Amino acid sequence: MAIVFIPDRQVVITEVEEIKRYLAGSGIEYDAWDLVPLDHDASSATILDAYRDKLDEVKAKGGYTSVDIVDVQPSTPGLDEMLARFNREHWHDEDEVRFTVGGRGLFHIHPADSAVVAIEVRPGDMIRVPRGTRHWFNLCNTREIKAIRFFQDKSGWTPQYTDSAEDAKYEPVCLGASYFPHSR
Ligand SMILES: [Fe+2]
Repeated sequence: MAIVFIPDRQVVITEVEEIKRYLAGSGIEYDAWDLVPLDHDASSATILDAYRDKLDEVKAKGGYTSVDIVDVQPSTPGLDEMLARFNREHWHDEDEVRFTVGGRGLFHIHPADSAVVAIEVRPGDMIRVPRGTRHWFNLCNTREIKAIRFFQDKSGWTPQYTDSAEDAKYEPVCLGASYFPHSR
């Protein structure tokens, strides 16, 4: 399950309902889905089929017309170039909706009127970052993530960079709950 960290307040949230509540305050939807047991090398079609009902629900609710799978590993060609597109503060004309199936990743969200929040996503985590929300993304040290992506229109997903340098103020490190002395 996800770990939410508010760096400026040194607050960590690990309880699902509290994560939902906190993120909803900034317009971010979070949900924790039950994982379907699948082989590590299950095909994209098998993964999409395993979550078909849940995916259809999300697609109908958000008007998403297509889904695909992003599967990134340390050996993925051009990985650094790919990451460099998303690790600077940006926003999209399209919601960024991700269900993590494997690996881990770190979203930083920069809400309009509250503190920057880091969300470490893990398998089972469903997150919807609404269009126009400032954010950036890093991989964890394993440099591995597999996620289902939802699209309304892929042309809207081009990053619009803010060049605020806000991202440079926050360490892009996934640490896990045990690191934090004041987890709640
Ligand atoms: Fe993004």
